[in-house]
Amino acid sequence: SFKPLVFSGVQPTGNLHLGNYLGAIRKFVSLQNEHDCIYCVVDMHSITAQLVHEDLASQTRSITAAYLACGIDPTKHIVFNQSRVMQHAELAWIFNCVARIGWMNRMTQFKDKAGKDRENASLGLLAYPSLMAADILLYRATHVPVGDDQKQHIELTRDIAIKFNNDFSHRIADLGIGVELMMGEEKVNGFFPLTEPMIEGPATRVMSLRDGSKKMSKSDPSDLSRINLTDDADTISKKIRKARTDPEALPSELAGLKDRPEADNLIGIYAALSDQTREAVITEYGGQQFSVFKPALADLAVEKLAPIASEMRRIQADTAYVDAVLKDGGERARTIAEGTMKQVRQIIGF
Ligand code: ADP
Ligand code: NA
Repeated sequence: SFKPLVFSGVQPTGNLHLGNYLGAIRKFVSLQNEHDCIYCVVDMHSITAQLVHEDLASQTRSITAAYLACGIDPTKHIVFNQSRVMQHAELAWIFNCVARIGWMNRMTQFKDKAGKDRENASLGLLAYPSLMAADILLYRATHVPVGDDQKQHIELTRDIAIKFNNDFSHRIADLGIGVELMMGEEKVNGFFPLTEPMIEGPATRVMSLRDGSKKMSKSDPSDLSRINLTDDADTISKKIRKARTDPEALPSELAGLKDRPEADNLIGIYAALSDQTREAVITEYGGQQFSVFKPALADLAVEKLAPIASEMRRIQADTAYVDAVLKDGGERARTIAEGTMKQVRQIIGF
C-alpha cells in the first residue's frame, strides 16, 4: 500500500486569517510529528481568479513566514512554492484530459468564484481542481488537511485517481508499477492513491464575524469580517467586540446554538483556540451574556495569535532565509515530482 504522506497548500492571496489558521495551518503543524509532510504555497492557483498581482513574490514569502512562524520545521519536512516545480503544470495538463468538464462545472467553489458571468471566468478557474489534484498526486500524498470548503475538491482528486488508475490499469500492470489499494471491498493495483481529506475539530469552517452565513475569507471586502494573523492585540479585541451576534445569552446546551450561527461560530473558535470541545465551552459559558464571553474570547485569541504575528514579522524581515527555505524545499519537491512524472510519462506513452 501507499506510504502515508501529508500534503497541503495555501494560496498567496491577501491576508492569512483565523480560518486559514484553525482550518489548515494549525493542523499542518500538529501532523508533522508523526508524518512526512509537504506544505506548498500554491502560487499558480492564485492567478486563476486574478491574473495580475502587485506583490505575488512578497505574498509567497509572507505565507512561507506564516508556516514557519506557526512551527513547521522546513528541515524535517518540505516547504516550497508551486511554481518552482513545473511538474505540477505537467501533471495538471494530463489530469485536464482525465477529468470531465461536467465534474468541474459541479464544483461549488467555481460557481461561487465565477459568479453570474461564468463565460468570462478564466479557464484556469474552471480547471483549478485539476491542478489541485496534480499538487496532491504528484507526491502520491495519502492525506490532505484542509478546511471544510475543500472537501469537494479532495473528492474530485479521488475521482481523477480512480479514473486514471482504471483507464491505464493494463499499462500500470505491464510496467509492474502498481501499488495495492482498496477500492471499497475490492483490492486493486493503482498508480495513484485514493487521498483522504483530514477535516476534523471544532473549527473546520470558520464563519465571517460580520455575517454568520458566509465563511471567513481573504477576499471579503470587510476587514472586520476576519481576524488576520498579522492583526495586533487591539485590532483583534476590537473585531471580536464588534462581531455580529444576537442579543440572547449563550445557551446551556449545544442544541441551543442551532439557529444561532454567529454564536455557534464564536463558540467553535473558542473551542479550537483553547483545544477544548464545544461541549466544554458551553459548560463553562452557558447562560452568560456576550458581554462576558467576548472579552474572554478576545483575551484567548490575543494570547494565541500575538506570538505568531511577532514571529511572522521577525521571519519575514529575513528575506534571504525565507528564499533559501523555498529554494531548498523546491529542489527536494522536484526530485520526488520528477520520479512520479517519469512513470506517468511511461504510462501515457510519451
Ligand atoms: P481562502 O479560502 O481564504 O482564499 P485558501 O483557498 O488559500 O484560502 O485556503 C487555505 C486553507 O485554509 C484551505 O485548507 C482552506 O480549506 C482553509 N480555509 C479557508 N477559509 C477557511 C475558513 N473560513 N474556515 C476554515 N478553513 C478555511
Ligand atoms: Na479556499
